[in-house]
Amino acid sequence: MNTEHKPGPSEFWDEFYSERQRVWSGKPNGALMREVSMISPGRAIDLGCGEGADAIWLAERGWTVTGVDISAVALGRAAAHAAEAGVADRVTWLVSDLAEWEPEQTYDLVTASFLHSPIEMPRERILLAATRAVAPGGTLFVVGHTAFPPWARHAHDDAHMPSADELAASLGLRAADWELETSTSEGREATGPEGQTAVLTDAVLTARRLAS
Ligand SMILES: C[S@@+](CC[C@H](N)C(=O)[O-])C[C@H]1O[C@@H](n2cnc3c(N)ncnc32)[C@H](O)[C@@H]1O
Repeated sequence: MNTEHKPGPSEFWDEFYSERQRVWSGKPNGALMREVSMISPGRAIDLGCGEGADAIWLAERGWTVTGVDISAVALGRAAAHAAEAGVADRVTWLVSDLAEWEPEQTYDLVTASFLHSPIEMPRERILLAATRAVAPGGTLFVVGHTAFPPWARHAHDDAHMPSADELAASLGLRAADWELETSTSEGREATGPEGQTAVLTDAVLTARRLAS
């Protein structure tokens, strides 16, 4: 009998974050900064916000932000960073498994940065729900890997990582009620957890839901 314990997604991600004091860089994503900095602030939600760098950057620019992640460990850190940055009152942190998420309200900005998981996560289903969470006139921003970074410990070879164009098509962002503003691949120099460097290719997607 195989008695090997397989962690569920919440246990997996809590362990992942608990292994290190800080996992990600603490810097907001460059593509997010570029794509969003001209938009007037309103209500935003960051899906899979991790340690909160993007959500905190948005709050610093005047957005009222909800940061959602499955890991309570990550969100504990995010809340501490938000307090240090003086924006704790503008961010709500929500521990939640997005796998079954159905938005109950809409947002002026819905973001998902590197919403990837080496264990079961219905990314496309979540991103489709994300399109429904965008208010008329609001913006959807998605940045993702097109391949796992070389230092990813849990990468699986069969995971399909769509290009921005593939994602735009599968999310229906070429429909008449959307304006696809950016759909591109971008190279980025990245540093891994042990200081290793590599040029990674990101898929960057920005789309605006037309107001009527
Ligand atoms: C690769 S990290 C990206 C974190 C952050 N957005 C960033 O860019 O630094 C993926 C994040 O998605 C979260 N996540 C994975 N599966 C999830 C799920 N089913 N529901 C909510 N969050 C999830 C993980 O806890 C992790 O923080």
